[in-house]
Amino acid sequence: MKVRGEADQQEKTVDGNSDAQVILPEHLAIIMDGNGRWASRRRLPRLEGHRQGAKAVRRTVEFARKTGIKYLTLYAFSTENWQRPDDEVSGLMRLLSQFIDSELNEIHSHGIRFTTIGDISRLPKRLVEKIERAKAKTSGNGRMCLIVALSYGGRHEIVSAALKLADQINSGQISPDHFNESSFSELLDTKGIPDPDLLIRTGGEVRVSNFLLWQLAYTELYFTQILWPDFDETALSDALEEYRSRQRRFGMTSEQKKSSKCIVTNQGGTPCSRPASSLQ
Ligand code: FPP
Repeated sequence: MKVRGEADQQEKTVDGNSDAQVILPEHLAIIMDGNGRWASRRRLPRLEGHRQGAKAVRRTVEFARKTGIKYLTLYAFSTENWQRPDDEVSGLMRLLSQFIDSELNEIHSHGIRFTTIGDISRLPKRLVEKIERAKAKTSGNGRMCLIVALSYGGRHEIVSAALKLADQINSGQISPDHFNESSFSELLDTKGIPDPDLLIRTGGEVRVSNFLLWQLAYTELYFTQILWPDFDETALSDALEEYRSRQRRFGMTSEQKKSSKCIVTNQGGTPCSRPASSLQ
């Protein structure tokens, strides 16, 4: 696979497969599915699947960094996952805590900013404190953003944003006349983060499972049968190769797109250059 350097990632044209087409997603989002099946096929406890899944997380962060992906969002725990058996939930919380313990220095040393989306107040208090310390430590980093979705649900995020909007309108802070899609995006957990260019879901299911419902409007979707613990560099390269072959029209016709000189930037600017307050 042809991989270009970071400087080439700053903008993309809507020029189909021409050489000017950006070849890497600026923002890659992943639904990491299949840990349980990976374990049960080996007659192992589900938690062992999650443990191997955490290793796949490590590999993926490293490969994404080396490849030049600027934003990597991982769906680690959904609002619905709270319904899983208590021992699985607490095991997942432990793995997240261990991940921060073992990976944070490495992440920081590579200039990666660690952040989360979702309602982390529901997590165990000590884990929340650890997450907050990790965010604070890496808040000045700008080479890449690692965004972990924790206790996250797309519908919950949209309803929370709508409630914030209602408050702001009621208190006269904003007028509905001056409100648009872009200002609504500012009320979401992903404020300041460009929408994903590519969503990968492992594990063979073909759905988005309440993940980034607003943000996926024009995202390219890629589904693979590979179970998350088996996801490796080859699997990620295959997904990026497929992404490269996609024609992103953003609602235009092919003809309009061909004649268009329009440069599409993914709302971005310099990756991770936004003020710390813009990321949660
Ligand atoms: C879905 O697989 C996976 C999860 C609910 C948890 C994902 C967690 C990790 C990959 C490990 C920890 C994360 C980090 C960021 C260190 P599933 O259990 O639903 O699989 P199944 O569909 O085969 O049962």
